[in-house]
Parts: sequence; structure tokens; C-alpha cells
Amino acid sequence: MAEFDWALETLLVHGGNDVVKTEPYHATAPAIYPSTSYQVASPELLDQVMAGSIPGFSYARHGNPSVEAFVQAMIQLECAETGVACASGMSAIDMALYAVGLQPGDALLLSQDLYGASLNLASAIWQQYGVQPMVVDFANLAGVKDILERFHPRAMIFEVISNPLLKVLDAKALIKLASDYHCQVIVDNTFTTPLMAEPLTWGADLVVHSATKYLGGHGDAMGGVVLGRRRYHDRLHQYLKLRGAILGPFEAWLLHRGLKTLGVRFERQCANALEIAEALRSSGLFDQVYYPLLPDHPSYPLARQYFGVMGGAVVTLDIPGGRSAVYQFINHLRLVGSATTVGDVYTLCLYPVIASHRNQTPEERLAMGITDGTVRIAVGLESPDDVIRDIIQATKS
Ligand SMILES: Cc1ncc(COP(=O)(O)O)c(C=O)c1O
Repeated sequence: MAEFDWALETLLVHGGNDVVKTEPYHATAPAIYPSTSYQVASPELLDQVMAGSIPGFSYARHGNPSVEAFVQAMIQLECAETGVACASGMSAIDMALYAVGLQPGDALLLSQDLYGASLNLASAIWQQYGVQPMVVDFANLAGVKDILERFHPRAMIFEVISNPLLKVLDAKALIKLASDYHCQVIVDNTFTTPLMAEPLTWGADLVVHSATKYLGGHGDAMGGVVLGRRRYHDRLHQYLKLRGAILGPFEAWLLHRGLKTLGVRFERQCANALEIAEALRSSGLFDQVYYPLLPDHPSYPLARQYFGVMGGAVVTLDIPGGRSAVYQFINHLRLVGSATTVGDVYTLCLYPVIASHRNQTPEERLAMGITDGTVRIAVGLESPDDVIRDIIQATKS
């Protein structure tokens, strides 16, 4: 694809294809490269490839054309200057934490509403190496400023929309605040995708994704990706080579293919989510229906400001009656599945108390706003009317 100021929709379809293009015939569908090594035409060339002074492939732990095609597409979509793809979203977050150069004694600032395993990664692993994780409410800008002033964290990490209560953070204000205190910013863009949020354009340093979710979009490939400014290139590639974290070529191919339909899938999933949220709210069956584009959601003004008409593809419900009512609800669903993921073509529900937030005490969950009746619905591509009917019949049963 010739260089041009292409629109996001065009980049989604064409991005990265040139990496695997062959002359004079090139397959319209990109090829998969399972090879673990590459016979380079001359030792002089291999020397340059190994030194990283020219792009190329030598050994698949360092790079692979199928992976590179996916990475190049993501670099374009996130307006990044460098990037790497790895085996999972968790691996991407770990790699980003390495890339910012955390040292023993450094503070690391984490949003309290981050994905639970991201919080555990900081406390269970990085803390062992002397890093001090500090978990705060990023909606409280004054509180964040206070920590920045007092502890000078080397980096902060947050998600723009929280899970499962869908609180929206003022990402631009947080990034500005961080830059005033020379704190590097990592944004997990999994739930927002490049269609809703562009953290690097807003000034963040690194973006990570669990590509397992919306990017792949079909629930059949795990992967992660880290994108960022050029200054992170060496550390990201060092991690990739030495920790052996590279994404597999088959997964890369599936994830790259997923990107081509991300635009239509995600837009439809967001529209379905809004329709489902409005109908479930009007049913009067639930203690709460959370969706950022419902006017009574606490983040509604920020959601409108940042996202316009796309509010994400997750709706969260508070079912009256606590755990037994939720079990009954899940057991009576006929269409909506029960699985611990989002971003699939299928609508899936998750009960945070036994899944994503099982490691928190009931008191900690309540402090976050998660009750024993909270259920997350990750909206898929079925008819929203069918999903609404199924949820209502399961609630009444
Ligand atoms: C927001 C977010 N970030 C990261 C991850 C980790 O991704 P993976 O499961 O691909 O390691 C998840 C997984 O659910 C997630 O929801």
C-alpha cells in the first residue's frame, strides 16, 4: 500500500500486508511463515540483520514475517513508532513495564480499576524486584497529583474504561499531569481499541493490548502487543529476544486477519451494547444497569467527550438477590454463554465474584462498587433483540 494519509478503516484492512508481499505474484491473503530460521543471502547481510541495522529475519525468536505484518498494522493504527507482539496481553504489560526501565526503589502508579492480573503482576512479581506498586483511584486527579509530587513514580498504567463498572478516566488530563512530573504513561487500550482511544496521540508513551480480545475478535487466538515511541525500540526488542516472548506465527496470522474486520465488528458491538443497555434499563428488572452512554452513568459526560457515540461493547448489570440469584440467572441463559473473556463474536457473561475479582474480599469489591449481584455482559454480534429476550427470561426464571 503506497504511503498516504489513509483513514483508520483503510489501515485496518490493508495495514501490514506489504510485509508479506512477494513479487511478481502476491497472494491477496497474507501467507503464514512457520519457519524458525531464515537463510540469509550472505554473511554480510546476516551481520547487518543481527545487528538490527537493517530490517530482516534471521531466527524466529527475534522476528517473523507473519508477526511483523500484525505489528506493522498495529503501529499504523496506534500512530506508534515501534512495536512488538507477544504471547498474551499479560506478557505485553510485563514487557511495557520492562521498557520503561523500572529500577529497585522506583514507585509504579497503578489505577485501582486495572484488570486484576495486571495489579497482581505488579504486586506478585515486580515488587519482588524492589519496585513499589501504588494503587490509587485515577478518577481523583488531585490524589494522583499528590502521589506524583511525593513519590515521583517512574511510570503509571491505566485503562481508559474500567472493567466491569465502565468508569471512564480523563486520560488526557492524566497524561498531562504525568508529563509534568516526568512519569512515563502506559495505557492498556484493550477495552477501547484504536477505534475509541488514541493514547499515543494524546501523549502517552506506550500502549498495550490483549489482542486476545477485540483485535482478534473470534476467541481463537491469544496474543498481546506493545506499541510506543522510538526510544522504547531497543528495550522492547531486548525483552523479546532474551525472554523469548514472541507471538507464534499462526496466532499472528489470526490476529492480523481479525484486524481487517475490527472496524465493522466493534462498531456493531458498541451499537448492540447501547441498545441492550437501554432495553435492560427500561425493563426495571435490575438494581443497576451500567453503560457509559446511559445518561445516569457517573462517567457519562467524559464518555461523550472522549468517545462520542461509541461506549464500548460491555454492559454490566446488578441482579437483585445476590449470588444465588446470579447462579440461577446464569443457569437459565439459553443464548448468552458464560465465559471469562470479552471481544468475541458471541455474547458472554462473567460473574466477577467468582472470576475476575475472586481475589478481592467482599469489602474490597464493595469499595469498588462490585456487589454480589454484579454480572458483566460482553456483547457480541447476535441480534440485540435476542440477547435482550434471553437476559430478561433468565432474570425472570
Ligand atoms: C484489560 C485487559 N488487559 C490485559 C488482559 C490480559 O490479556 P491476556 O488474557 O491476553 O493475557 C486482559 C484479560 O482479560 C484484560 O481484560
